[in-house]
Amino acid sequence: MKGIILAGGSATRLRPLTKITSKQLLPVYDQPMIYYPIQTLVSSGITDILIIISPQYSGQFLNLLGSGKEFGARFSYAIQEEPKGLADAFIVGEDFIDNDNVTMILGDNIFDNHGFAKEIKSFKSGAMVFAKKVTDPERFGVVEFDEEGKVLSIVEKPKESKSDYAVVGLYTYDSRVIKYAKSLKPSARGEIEITDLNNLFLKKGELKVNLFEGLWADAGTFDSLLEVSNYMANKALNAKK
Ligand code: DAU
Repeated sequence: MKGIILAGGSATRLRPLTKITSKQLLPVYDQPMIYYPIQTLVSSGITDILIIISPQYSGQFLNLLGSGKEFGARFSYAIQEEPKGLADAFIVGEDFIDNDNVTMILGDNIFDNHGFAKEIKSFKSGAMVFAKKVTDPERFGVVEFDEEGKVLSIVEKPKESKSDYAVVGLYTYDSRVIKYAKSLKPSARGEIEITDLNNLFLKKGELKVNLFEGLWADAGTFDSLLEVSNYMANKALNAKK
C-alpha cells in the first residue's frame, strides 16, 4: 500500500494567512498542518508516500519535510501545476502508484483516534471510503445508505442532502484508479471530482464505506483551524496531567 498526501491548491478561503505560504504549512497548535496527515498514514502502516504540492511553495515543503526519515517514512514529491481537482492526484501520481494499491489523504484533513490501520491492512481491491455523521453535510461529499448499510448514492456537496453522512478525506483504491481518473470530465466547478471517481467504483459494486467514529476536521476555514488547534492543545494538556 502506497500513500499520497494531496497538499496543493490555492486556499483562497484562508487569505491573508495563505498569501505567503501554503495552507498545509500553517500551524495546528504545535505542528505544521501537514504533520497530521503524515502521522495518520505512518500510523496506518503506510511509509512510501508521495506528497503533491503546488509549484509556488514547493521549496518550503522540501525544507520542512526532507526525505521523510524523521517520520519513519520515505517521501517523494510531485508538482501539481494547477488545482485540477482531487482525482487529479492519481494522474499526477501515476508513475508512483504503478501497479500498487494506494491511500490518498487530503493535506488539510486531520484525524485522531482513527483506527484506519485495520481497514487499510485488510484492503484487497476496489475502493474504500469512510463516512462520518455531521450537522453540515452540504459542505462535503455525502453518502446515502439503505437499512442494511448498502450504499445507494454518493453526491458532491448536494444542496439538499439525502443523509447526514459526509465522506472524509481519506480514500483507498486499487491501481485501476489511474485509468478511472483519466476518464473523468471536469465538473461545473472545473475540477475532476473524487466523488465522480467513487461513483465509478459504486456502479461496479466495488465501493466499500466504513463508518468513522474518531475526530475528523477539515482545517480549511478559520473556524475549523482554530477548533482543531484547541483540540490538539487540550489533548497535549491532558497527556501532561
Ligand atoms: O474534506 C473532505 C471533502 O474534501 C470531501 O467530503 C469532498 O467530497 C471532497 O470533494 C473535498 O471537498 P473540499 O471542497 O473540501 O475540497 P477542496 O477543494 O477544499 O480540496 C481539499 C484539499 O486538497 C485542499 O487542502 C487543497 C487540496 N487540493 C485541492 C484541489 C482541488 C489540491 O492539492 N489540488 C487540487 O486540485
